Amino acid sequence: MIQTEIRIADWSNADDRITLGMIRERVFIEEQQVPFALEWDEFDNSSMHFLAIVDNQYVATARLKHDGQFGRMAVLAEFRHQGIGSALLRCIVQQAQQRQLDQLYCHAQVSALDFYCQHGFVAYGNEFDDAGIAHQTMQRTLDFPARNRA
Ligand SMILES: CC(C)(COP(=O)(O)OP(=O)(O)OC[C@H]1O[C@@H](n2cnc3c(N)ncnc32)[C@H](O)[C@@H]1OP(=O)(O)O)[C@@H](O)C(=O)NCCC(=O)NCCS
Repeated sequence: MIQTEIRIADWSNADDRITLGMIRERVFIEEQQVPFALEWDEFDNSSMHFLAIVDNQYVATARLKHDGQFGRMAVLAEFRHQGIGSALLRCIVQQAQQRQLDQLYCHAQVSALDFYCQHGFVAYGNEFDDAGIAHQTMQRTLDFPARNRA
């Protein structure tokens, strides 16, 4: 597994916004052909954003909304299959637990379902289309060891 640092990004900071935008443009707009207008939405402003750094280079991003939905998970193609997506997801789970969210969910691309299953997510509901890509809701209940002991 590659040495990965994850930091919380600041959407109100122009440099962070450019970095997040660059990664999402390369992965979703250029690689997956998601229409530009669908990639950016009103939730960017209020979400918590994550950036993964490898060898001083930004290589991946994701975001977490207030209601426990996370998404826009994007690892640059040349950095995949080295545990970076998993490191990002573990950080999202940690942040959600700190916020005392009861559950996390995402609209996963069907091609990535195994990735989420490996992190304890289970499928919920039917498959659906979003931006021309088949998706499936995946969810995971979060536990709070301190709360359970009380
Ligand atoms: C899905 C994604 C975030 C995974 O990131 P990653 O850094 O490659 O993930 P990890 O290295 O931590 O884990 C990879 C493992 O997850 C599983 N996996 C399942 N589907 C996968 C997929 N589409 N891509 C990568 N891994 C996948 C495999 O078991 C894989 O193990 P392997 O490397 O031995 O093949 C990354 O591939 C990505 O950004 N894809 C393009 C954008 C995208 O589809 N985002 C998800 C939207 S729901």
